[in-house]
Amino acid sequence: MSQRRALVGIFVILAALFAVSTAEAEAEEKEYVLTLDHTNFSDTVAKHNFIVVEFYAPWCGHCKRLAPEYEKAASILSSHDPPITLAKVDASDEVNKELSTKYRVQGFPSIKILRDGGNKVQDYKGPREADGIVTYLKKQAGPASTEIKSREDAASLIDEKKIFVAGVFPKFSGVEFEKFITLAEKLRADYDFAHTLDAKHLPRGEPVDKPTLRLLKPFDELFADYQDFDVDAMEKFINEASTPKVTVFDKNPDNYPYIDKFFRSKFAKVLLFVNFSSELDAFKSKYDDIAALYKGKDIGFLLGDVQSSGGVFQYFKVNEDQAPLVLGQTNDGEKYLKPNVEPDHIATWVKDFKDGKLKPFLSSEPIPENNSERVKVVVTDSLEEMVFNSGKNVLLEFYAPWCGHCKQLAPILDEVAISLENDPNVMIAKLDATANDIPKGKFEVKGFPTLYFKSASGNLLQYEGNRTKEDIIDFIQKNRDKTIQSGSATSEEPSSREEL
Ligand SMILES: *[C@@H]1O[C@H](CO)[C@@H](O)[C@H](O)[C@H]1NC(C)=O
Ligand SMILES: *[C@@H]1O[C@H](CO)[C@@H](O)[C@H](O)[C@H]1NC(C)=O
Ligand SMILES: *[C@@H]1O[C@H](CO)[C@@H](O)[C@H](O)[C@H]1NC(C)=O
Ligand SMILES: *[C@@H]1O[C@H](CO)[C@@H](O)[C@H](O)[C@H]1NC(C)=O
Repeated sequence: MSQRRALVGIFVILAALFAVSTAEAEAEEKEYVLTLDHTNFSDTVAKHNFIVVEFYAPWCGHCKRLAPEYEKAASILSSHDPPITLAKVDASDEVNKELSTKYRVQGFPSIKILRDGGNKVQDYKGPREADGIVTYLKKQAGPASTEIKSREDAASLIDEKKIFVAGVFPKFSGVEFEKFITLAEKLRADYDFAHTLDAKHLPRGEPVDKPTLRLLKPFDELFADYQDFDVDAMEKFINEASTPKVTVFDKNPDNYPYIDKFFRSKFAKVLLFVNFSSELDAFKSKYDDIAALYKGKDIGFLLGDVQSSGGVFQYFKVNEDQAPLVLGQTNDGEKYLKPNVEPDHIATWVKDFKDGKLKPFLSSEPIPENNSERVKVVVTDSLEEMVFNSGKNVLLEFYAPWCGHCKQLAPILDEVAISLENDPNVMIAKLDATANDIPKGKFEVKGFPTLYFKSASGNLLQYEGNRTKEDIIDFIQKNRDKTIQSGSATSEEPSSREEL
């Protein structure tokens, strides 16, 4: 082979490779996810009976992880019959602000399913990987309720571990059936629906001779029937019937939806934590009986395993030593606690809680015996003595151990304390707000760090100035003993604060 021919050969091969790679690049560049903004959002949505929109922010990590999966799902769903369209809007862009407000975008990514040209909006509650997205959206794009014609249909549709709502009708028409379909369309993101002409296809319950809503559930009485076909009444029924008498909190993922629902509910809450390996028998049936007494009385019950409740304990600022423990929480967030509780004492405690006879409980770290650091440690139990009744001018930092801005502030506060060391009337202090409850009404702590100044005469101001030694000392000197600046506690948010 001559040199020249060999070169031509390589050229051809390279050209071919090049061609392939450009083709591939083009294929990759074709985006199936539509990019929308304020100029073309409404027109695009109006053209679709069903469209999915992701509101994202370019800096959001979850959005970046979702992007390739979302794109893959979009490419698969583009060949669905009819095609399902996926779109995205950069909700962090000022120009799209009106859209984010309209669609109540509160976090990123926020995915909405828009139906009927945008007239109906539903939250996307499905998985975040391509196959899961495809399956979920195919189902959401289909009819809200599926017909069950046989026991086999029922077996393939009904997940025994989940809530399932079936409508039993003598015929698939008439006002009851229509109301049922309306309900299914309204709640389709949260529950699975089906309709059937014969209750005997369903795994549980007796035959019925009039339109009946039958809710199948994996707990308590296992199914519940309802026959008032008013949409709101049915929704209320489903919501109540799908809430276990006692929500179980352990590591079993099947319980997660109920736990989620429990914590989201607006009811007062009672939570009992025991060690499931050693104490469950002693508590369970008594606790179930108590919960049964309060059924329908706007109070939710949870039974949690001490061994899997680390996060909850942190949230309520309690610890394992206090178990078995029963906690109460009212709608306004007040906390009640009985540590080391015995099975026979719970009923009385719950009654007192329900009757408002208990005193709210504030968690506190122990008062430190040795408070010799320059920045003094204040805990809930020493707040009165050290801050309000000390007769001193106190600068108090509310912090969280994990908060970066607090770590940056620590050496500055230390310097402030050094500078004012010889002034017996000034104290620089800090309170770990993740381990201590802050009494209601005095301080408003919405982010970390939050700084308050209490003058010797009792005036309370929030410090919102720059976090430099000079500015802080300035502020203390200006406001100590007496203060004139009544309007200083403005609601302006410093941008360098970490939100709770
Ligand atoms: C909407 O407008 C933006 C900005 O002009 C553009 O990038 C995008 O491709 C448009 N989307 C559609 C579907 O027309
Ligand atoms: C729960 O009980 C088991 C069995 O007695 C014990 O091994 C375990 O340490 C206990 N767990 C806690 C968190 O108390
Ligand atoms: C307090 O703690 C410091 C440092 O941890 C130590 O040096 C000091 O001796 C302690 N003082 C008392 C009274 O325990
Ligand atoms: C804080 O510092 C910034 C920049 O150094 C300055 O522009 C601003 O006026 C300061 N704010 C206050 C309240 O002193």
